[in-house]
Amino acid sequence: MDKKYGKIAELVHFLIKGSYEGKENLNFLDLTCGNGNDTLFLSSLAGPKGHVTGLDIQEEAVERTKNLLKEKSKYNNYTIIRDNHEFAEKYIRNKIDAAVYNLGYLPNSDKNIVTQAQTTIRSINSLLPYLKDSGRIYITAYITHDKGYEIYKISDFLNCLDKRLFNVIHINLVNKDNNPPELYIIEQNL
Ligand SMILES: C[S@@+](CC[C@H](N)C(=O)[O-])C[C@H]1O[C@@H](n2cnc3c(N)ncnc32)[C@H](O)[C@@H]1O
Repeated sequence: MDKKYGKIAELVHFLIKGSYEGKENLNFLDLTCGNGNDTLFLSSLAGPKGHVTGLDIQEEAVERTKNLLKEKSKYNNYTIIRDNHEFAEKYIRNKIDAAVYNLGYLPNSDKNIVTQAQTTIRSINSLLPYLKDSGRIYITAYITHDKGYEIYKISDFLNCLDKRLFNVIHINLVNKDNNPPELYIIEQNL
């Protein structure tokens, strides 16, 4: 069935697939593995010659992601690490094609363990020098978990990114109640 642009998680996958499908040696990062759905998608797209590095601050998320990929990924092309994405730079070996953040908390788990504006921004900032010319960062952000504190800080940060170097795209659903997730995409302006 056709993907719905209005479902941000589906839109992210649609956009990434459209941009990177069929390319070789893809290098993907998932900065918030959670249940592993995005990591599995990236692993499938990366194929046998590509690689996905997944990070999550929680052991439970790392376990869920490893189990999902063990069961469903066709490729042994992933590394799943428990760490704060603030330190993602430590794990970057090659230039990045796409990096994915799906912010907030792990569903069906402790809602107090949640992404934080300052560490998220430090993490995003640390990836910028590693983007390939065609590289992008996809950030799905929510208003609901902290009354918008994190998303507004991220928005402020992205609004100030050097316009000569980067394009920042913002997608939101304008006709829905209950603050649906919003998507920011950073790409090189080359
Ligand atoms: C909405 S979930 C991610 C969903 C996931 N992408 C998926 O496809 O299932 C957000 C995740 O961010 C993780 N997280 C929160 N703060 C973090 C941090 N500083 N560094 C890395 N992961 C973090 C949480 O543990 C949680 O698993």
